[in-house]
This record gives sequence, C-alpha cells and structure tokens, in this order.
Amino acid sequence: MHLFRLFVTAAVTSTHVRAEPGILQEISSLKSSNSSLLRYPTQFTQGIIPKAIHSHNDYWREVPLLTALSYGVASVEADVWLVNETLYVGHEIEALTRDRTFDALYVQPLVEIISAQNPDTEFTINGSSVNGVFDTSSGTPLQLLVDIKTDGEKTFPFVLQALEPLRRRGYLTTFSNGTLKTSTVTVVGTGNTPLDSVKASLPRDFFYDAPLAELNSTSEKWDNTLSPIASTDYSLAVAWSGIGNITEDQLANLNRLLQEAHSLGIKARFWDTPGWPSSARNSVWRQLAESGADWLNADDLQAASAF
Ligand SMILES: *[C@@H]1O[C@H](CO)[C@@H](O)[C@H](O)[C@H]1NC(C)=O
Ligand SMILES: *[C@@H]1O[C@H](CO)[C@@H](O)[C@H](O)[C@H]1NC(C)=O
Ligand SMILES: *[C@@H]1O[C@H](CO)[C@@H](O)[C@H](O)[C@H]1NC(C)=O
Ligand SMILES: *[C@@H]1O[C@H](CO)[C@@H](O)[C@H](O)[C@H]1NC(C)=O
Ligand SMILES: *[C@@H]1O[C@H](CO)[C@@H](O)[C@H](O)[C@H]1NC(C)=O
Ligand SMILES: *[C@@H]1O[C@H](CO)[C@@H](O)[C@H](O)[C@H]1NC(C)=O
Repeated sequence: MHLFRLFVTAAVTSTHVRAEPGILQEISSLKSSNSSLLRYPTQFTQGIIPKAIHSHNDYWREVPLLTALSYGVASVEADVWLVNETLYVGHEIEALTRDRTFDALYVQPLVEIISAQNPDTEFTINGSSVNGVFDTSSGTPLQLLVDIKTDGEKTFPFVLQALEPLRRRGYLTTFSNGTLKTSTVTVVGTGNTPLDSVKASLPRDFFYDAPLAELNSTSEKWDNTLSPIASTDYSLAVAWSGIGNITEDQLANLNRLLQEAHSLGIKARFWDTPGWPSSARNSVWRQLAESGADWLNADDLQAASAF
C-alpha cells in the first residue's frame, strides 16, 4: 500500500509519463474485488512473531491480553483474587471491579482466539493438532502466569474450575501418565499457589512457578513436569543496576542460577529488573539475554519487543 502510494506520487510529479506496472494494477484490482482467494482464515495474529517476553502485570494495560499478543509477547500475568466465589483480576483489592473477572479478561478471549485459529472445516476433520494464538508459529504456546493473591488452598479449586472452557477444548498443556503434552496455553501458578495441591493434581494442567534461587537448596525435586518456569527477584539475586560494569560475583550468581534451572529443563525469569533509566534497563536486558535467561520480564512491551 505504502509502496503503491509512493509510486503514484512519483508518477504524477515526474515529467515523464510512466505506466503503472501490470503487477500493481493486478494487486489493486484483486484487493477491490473482495476475492475469496484473499480471505486468510486464521489471520488474527497474522505476521506477528512470538517473542520470549513476559508481560508483567498484564491487566494494567489499557487492553489486557490483546496488547501483549499484538507485540508477539508469549507470556502474560494475571493477579487473581477470590471474592464471593468469583475470581477478579487486579493488582490490589482496591483495583477490583465487578466486570474485570479472570473469565472475562483472560479465559473467554483465549477461547475465542484459539477457536478462531482452529476452524472446523472439511480440511481439519481428521486433524488432532491444535494451533496456538500465534499464526506464524502455531506450535508456540502462550504462557499464562496466574498470581494467586487470596488464600492459596481456598482459591486453587476456583482457578482450576475457571480454566474448564480451555481444558474441555484440549487447549491446556497437560502432564498426564508420565507424559507432558504441550498445547496452546501453559498455565503456571505463582504467588499463593499451593505447591502440594499442584503436585497432587494429576492429570496436571496447572503448573508451579519454582523458586529460581532455591532450585537445588531445598528438599523439593524440581523438574519441568511440575515447573516449566522458575522465577526470582533480580534485585536480590543479581542486583546489578545496569550502570557501570557488572561485578564478577553478580555475573557468577546470574550464571549459576541459569545453569541450575537449565540443568533441570526449567526456564528462568527474573522479575524486578531495573525499569529506568532506559539505558540501564537495556544493559540489564542485554546481560540477561547474553547469559541465557529465557524470559524477558517487561513492563514496557513496545521497548522489549523492539529490543
Ligand atoms: C466480501 O465478501 C464477504 C464474504 O462473501 C462478505 O461478507 C463481505 O461483506 C464482502 N465485503 C465487501 C466490502 O463487499
Ligand atoms: C459478597 O457477598 C455479600 C453477601 O451476599 C454481599 O453483601 C457483598 O456485597 C458481596 N461482595 C462482592 C464484592 O460481591
Ligand atoms: C479424513 O479421513 C477419511 C477416512 O480415512 C478420508 O476419507 C478423508 O479423505 C480424510 N480427509 C482429509 C481432509 O484428510
Ligand atoms: C499410562 O501408562 C501406562 C504405562 O505406560 C499404560 O499401560 C497405560 O495404558 C497408560 N494409561 C493411559 C490412560 O494412557
Ligand atoms: C568496565 O569494563 C571495561 C572492559 O573490561 C573496562 O575497560 C572499563 O574500564 C570498566 N569500567 C569501569 C567503570 O570499571
Ligand atoms: C546445583 O546445580 C548445579 C547445576 O546442575 C550442579 O552442578 C550443582 O552440583 C548443584 N549444587 C548442589 C548443592 O546440589
């Protein structure tokens, strides 16, 4: 479109009369014909490349979930509160409203998007695979981090129940009978998520965000059938501000944590990385990427996706 406009402008201002190349005429005539040949069915995220970015407190954005997907962000986080048997989403209790439920902001939009990416047609009738949210990479799952804010034991069954529309359609990554089967959405609990309940749930389609700084200092045997991801507070675990040079100790801590996670097949995420100044933020992101951190935790999705 842009190219076409450029060409037209050039043709008009040029002293020579130039014919429009046939190929551009063909393109514009096809576009104006509303031809069924141009109707691509699974175009919701057409051309968007998924990126290993985690949308920290995703519900803060003007349009939760969709904004993250539009940048290709492959992990989003929702803080959930159980009030009167309903799950609401917000950073603190003062931020809750009747309309902003976990179901309305995350579960139903995901059902709609993934259903649209998996139309029932005469071509898919024998198919068993399910496409994910990203059309360019249909096998890339979306990670949905659920940060339970209210009592873990009480809230847990409600979260499992809330995921039923996704579970029923086979959209959830599931560990069953010794096998991890990746599907379109991998749900991971954090915050007050009760570890024992997650471990006891088999088949398991709600996983546990492991403590990255304690992977081999606790009696727990961590692995990726329980914890696809492990996280820790960057400001405590590494603490380099991004200004000046990282110290040897800081770098050694960073690399050790990553090695411990990776040796268990677990992906690593550092939260509370510096957000400002942006040069410091970028230096930290660069170091994390160089050292092999799997997820870039980001508040500014535009900056992270352009990084
Ligand atoms: C294009 O075709 C589709 C399918 O037949 C139809 O729903 C739509 O209204 C058409 N759009 C225009 C602009 O004619
Ligand atoms: C919770 O339920 C009680 C009793 O029915 C009601 O008075 C209260 O307004 C409810 N609160 C919310 C946030 O729904
Ligand atoms: C689906 O399977 C049936 C039975 O094997 C076969 O006749 C049909 O051609 C298959 N359709 C497609 C789209 O593969
Ligand atoms: C679970 O695994 C066992 C041993 O591999 C097998 O015998 C059994 O059929 C499996 N059950 C299901 C439901 O897949
Ligand atoms: C940072 O490291 C570089 C390369 O090792 C060195 O040239 C520079 O002097 C160091 N800067 C500071 C402030 O220590
Ligand atoms: C921790 O994990 C690393 C990486 O696999 C391993 O080399 C090291 O021996 C472990 N340390 C302890 C104390 O288990």
